[in-house]
Amino acid sequence: MRIFLILIFLTPVLGLSRKPVPASQYEQLTGKKLSKDKKAKWDKLYSNSKFVYGKAPSKFLSQSYQFIPFGSSVLDLGMGEGRNAVFLAQKGYQITGVDLSNIAVKKAQLLAKEFGVKIKTIVANLQDYEFAENSFDSIICFYWVDRKMLERIHKWLKPGGVIIYEGFTLKQRSQQKDQDPVSYFLEEAELLTLFKDYKILKFEEADHLDEFRSSIIAKKGKK
Ligand SMILES: C[S@@+](CC[C@H](N)C(=O)[O-])C[C@H]1O[C@@H](n2cnc3c(N)ncnc32)[C@H](O)[C@@H]1O
Repeated sequence: MRIFLILIFLTPVLGLSRKPVPASQYEQLTGKKLSKDKKAKWDKLYSNSKFVYGKAPSKFLSQSYQFIPFGSSVLDLGMGEGRNAVFLAQKGYQITGVDLSNIAVKKAQLLAKEFGVKIKTIVANLQDYEFAENSFDSIICFYWVDRKMLERIHKWLKPGGVIIYEGFTLKQRSQQKDQDPVSYFLEEAELLTLFKDYKILKFEEADHLDEFRSSIIAKKGKK
């Protein structure tokens, strides 16, 4: 009986009675990512015969891809259904695309087949996936903002390599009433800070369009 009473007393103290917390709160509290939930979210979005982001590449990429030396190796982070990867493969680049969603990657391979090109694809959570140092001549990342990746992007990129990065800004979040977490969006001119140790080759943050994005092309030093 005495043990029973002690247990009742200790239950709230030990946290044994806590209710499960929502995923977003769990991530905030623990700093750990619930990648299974994330994967499920993306898989659901892509489980549709349509191409969610279309088959055409990002306008910024189609206008600027020539900053990447012809025929070189390119890593596409958070590749999605492959619109940018397939475009670059058509232009003669050696593409490796990585995405958390196997459904997205399958669709990217279908898109590659449709356009008669080959792309290498990897289904992986990039938060715990590794490439060797200096693996790629270029890295592209479109609409997947994860600031914790920057150190590894730097490591994977060869000296003198080029990064092309584009994301929505916080203005997009407020104007479009987007419910995604604030951390998915870029602050105004933040890309210039994130790539401050690089040589900036091109930077765009158009304010006159109905979508608010920030785009950069930056070159890693030769050292
Ligand atoms: C907004 S979509 C952009 C897709 C593509 N870059 C494009 O512009 O069409 C973001 C992509 O990032 C992928 N992603 C999110 N977290 C990831 C992670 N930890 N590892 C790999 N891919 C991830 C998602 O599966 C999704 O396909």
